Amino acid sequence: MDTLMGRRSIRKYQDKTVEGEKVRTILAAGRMAPSGKNKKPWEFIVAEDRDTMLKLSQVKPKGGLFVKDAPMGIVVVGDEEKSDTWVEDCSIASTFMQLEAHNQGLGSCWVQFRGRFTPEGGDAEVRVREILGIEEGRRVLCVITLGYPNEVKPPYKEEDYY
Ligand SMILES: Cc1cc2nc3c(=O)[nH]c(=O)nc-3n(C[C@H](O)[C@H](O)[C@H](O)COP(=O)(O)O)c2cc1C
Repeated sequence: MDTLMGRRSIRKYQDKTVEGEKVRTILAAGRMAPSGKNKKPWEFIVAEDRDTMLKLSQVKPKGGLFVKDAPMGIVVVGDEEKSDTWVEDCSIASTFMQLEAHNQGLGSCWVQFRGRFTPEGGDAEVRVREILGIEEGRRVLCVITLGYPNEVKPPYKEEDYY
């Protein structure tokens, strides 16, 4: 419950690199997620190049602008040919990674791309595929931004939920 109540969406980050060991642990948490028929239809792309982060921040008109100042992000990609439950599977994996990020003292935020549009009205997923060179047939669910928090958000309180 401490992890569940303490995790909040963090959109402001310190200018500090996240240690590789922490990133590997977070990716491992994602791979431990349950999935339909145990197909694990996910791929996680680590993005930290500044130009890539800037481009990703501009894919949607709003809701992802802070990505440009995030130290890094994990792009969560699903293989719809491998599993018809890729959305569910990748969502659970994303959540596992967010929870482990919190355990590691990091902040994270889910930035949605599936079903979202570019400022010009194009498909946001297609744009992300272009930026990262992801092949067709692979679906882009979201980016989980990661970094040391530069904002303080209060944890949830258990009594709020009864
Ligand atoms: C499916 C999903 C899509 C989301 N998309 C975005 C997004 O595009 N941009 C953003 O800033 N936050 C996004 N969020 C984060 C939510 O805004 C956030 O979880 C919610 O406001 C509750 O706040 P909390 O995470 O601090 O509990 C998304 C969260 C989920 C689960």
